[in-house]
Amino acid sequence: MKRLLLLLALVLTTVAADPPRREPLTLLVVGQTMDYLEPCGCGGQVAGGLARRAALLDELRREFPGAPVIDLGGQGFLTERLPLILRAAAYSGVALAGCAADDLAAWEHLAPAAAAAGMPLTSLPPPRLAAPPAPPRSLVIGPQRGWRIGVVAVSLPEGGVTALAPRLAAELTQLRQQRHCDLTVLLSHLGYGDTERLLERLPAAQRPRLVLLASAYGDTLPYFEELGATWVPVAAKGRSVSRITFASTPRGVSLSCEQRMVLAGVSDAAVASWVDAFVAAQRAGQVQQVAAGSTGQPAVSTCGPCHAAAVTAWRAHPHGHAVETLEQAGRDVAACLVCHAEQTRRLGLRPPATGDRGVECATCHEGLAAHLADPQTRPTTGGREACERCHTSENSPRWDLPKYLANVRGACAGTVQPRLAAPGG
Ligand code: HEC
Ligand code: HEC
Ligand code: HEC
Ligand code: HEC
Repeated sequence: MKRLLLLLALVLTTVAADPPRREPLTLLVVGQTMDYLEPCGCGGQVAGGLARRAALLDELRREFPGAPVIDLGGQGFLTERLPLILRAAAYSGVALAGCAADDLAAWEHLAPAAAAAGMPLTSLPPPRLAAPPAPPRSLVIGPQRGWRIGVVAVSLPEGGVTALAPRLAAELTQLRQQRHCDLTVLLSHLGYGDTERLLERLPAAQRPRLVLLASAYGDTLPYFEELGATWVPVAAKGRSVSRITFASTPRGVSLSCEQRMVLAGVSDAAVASWVDAFVAAQRAGQVQQVAAGSTGQPAVSTCGPCHAAAVTAWRAHPHGHAVETLEQAGRDVAACLVCHAEQTRRLGLRPPATGDRGVECATCHEGLAAHLADPQTRPTTGGREACERCHTSENSPRWDLPKYLANVRGACAGTVQPRLAAPGG
C-alpha cells in the first residue's frame, strides 16, 4: 500500500493559558469532495475517491479512537450525487459538515440529502432559500475527552468580509462564553486572502484557534501559523485527510498536524459497491443511442477511400478505442463519454454499440462536409487548445504537447503508432 505520509510536523504552541490538563484530542478533517466519486483512471490517475477515503478514515479512526471527523464542505454541484456523497461521509463517522457557496446554492437538494444521511450542516451566511430550514450558524462537538469544540463555517458572504466579521466575532464569542467551548474552529471557503482579511478584523482574543481552509490546489499545502490560528488547507476533490491533535501543555494548547493523501490503496468494499450501483443506475438512465457511425459529422469510414492509411492508424490508436476503455471499466456514462466519444461530446448521446467510436476525425478536423463534397476544400485542424479541452492537467497528467502531437500527426500521416511509451518504459 502506497500511502504517502506528508509533512508530519509543526508542533505549534500557543501562549494562551489552559487551566485543566486534558487527554490529547485528535480531530480528523475531510472535505471539498466536489462531486468526486472515484478516480477516473485517465492518464494513470488513481488518487482519491469515496471508497479509498473511507478506507483511510477507517484506518485513522482505529489509530486515533474516538477522534471526531468533520467535513469542511464543498460537496459539489452535481446534485444527484449528493445523497451518495453524504451517505459515504456519515458511514465514515463524519460528525458535521460546513457549507461552501456551492452547497448553499444547492441547498434545496443538499438539505434533504443531509437529513437522510443524518449529517448535521452548519453555515454562518444562511442559504437564500427559506425552505428547507436554514442550518445553524455553528455547531459544538463534545465534550470529548474533556474538550468542547465549536465549529463555524463561512463561505462567500453577501456584503463581503466587512459585513461578515462582526457576525463571526459574535458567534465565536457565544461559542466560548455561552457554550463553553475550549477550542473554536473556522471552516473557511473564502480563500486565503479573504480569510486573512476576515480574521484581521477580529480582535486577537476572538480569533478561532484552528482555520480549515478550502484549498484550490489538488494536493497539499503546508500548514502554517498566522493571526494566532493554525491554518490547515484541505485538498480539493477530497484527496486528503488531515489529522490535527490538540494537547494541553503547561503553556497552553499545542497542535500537531499531518496530512495523508488518499492514494492508490485499499478501498472500502461497501462504499465501492454504492459507487458502482450509482454508476450502473446512471448507465441505465442514459438510453438514447445514436445510429451507428453518426456524430452529426462525417463518420470515420467516409475518409477511408482516400485516407486509408490514416483510418487504419486511427483504428489502432487509443483515440479509436476510447469508448471500449470505458465499457471495459463499466464507466460508459455521460460524465466520462463526454471526452471519450465524439457522439457524446457533440450531441450528448450515447455512442453506437459497435463500429467506429471514440475521439474521431471530426473531433480534431473541422469543415469535413465541405471537404467531402470537394476534396480541394481543405479541412482545418484545431491547435493546442483543441487537444487541451480533453488533455487537461487532471485527465492527462503526462501531457507533453510535442510528443503527443507527433504521435497523432504520425497516425494521420499513416504511420501506425503504438501507444506512447509508459514513463520509464
Ligand atoms: C476532460 C476529458 C476527460 C474526461 C471527462 C474523462 N476522460 Fe478519461 N481520458 C482522457 C484523456 C485525455 C485520456 C488520455 C490521457 C493520456 O494518455 O495522457 C484519458 C484516459 C483514460 C483512461 C486510460 C486508458 C488507458 O488504457 O490508459 C481511462 C481508464 C479513462 N480515461 C477513464 C475515464 C473515466 C472512467 C472517466 C469518467 C469518470 C473519464 N475517463 C473521463 C480524458 C477524459
Ligand atoms: C475523395 C477523396 C477524399 C475523401 C473521401 C476525404 N479526403 Fe481528406 N483529402 C483529400 C485530398 C485529395 C487531400 C489533399 C491531400 C494532399 O494535399 O496531399 C485531403 C487532405 C485532407 C487533410 C489535410 C488538410 C491539409 O490542410 O493538409 C485532412 C485533415 C483531411 N483530408 C481529412 C479528411 C477526413 C477527416 C476525411 C473523412 C471525413 C476526408 N479527409 C475524406 C481527399 C479526400
Ligand atoms: C475529445 C477529447 C480529446 C481530444 C480533443 C484529444 N484527445 Fe487525445 N485522448 C483522448 C482520450 C479519451 C484518450 C485515451 C483513450 C483511451 O486510451 O481510451 C486520448 C489519448 C491520446 C493519446 C495516446 C496516449 C497514450 O497513452 O498512448 C495521444 C498521443 C493523444 N491522445 C494526443 C492528442 C492530441 C495531440 C490531441 C490534439 C491534436 C488530442 N489528443 C485531442 C481524448 C482526446
Ligand atoms: C486527436 C486529433 C486528431 C484526430 C482524432 C485525427 N486527426 Fe488528422 N490530424 C491531426 C493533426 C494535429 C494533424 C496535423 C495538422 C498539421 O500539421 O497542421 C492531422 C493531420 C491529418 C492529415 C494530413 C496528414 C499529412 O499527410 O500530413 C490527414 C489526411 C488527416 N489528419 C486525416 C485524419 C483522418 C482521416 C482522421 C480520422 C481517421 C483523423 N485525421 C483524425 C489531428 C487529428
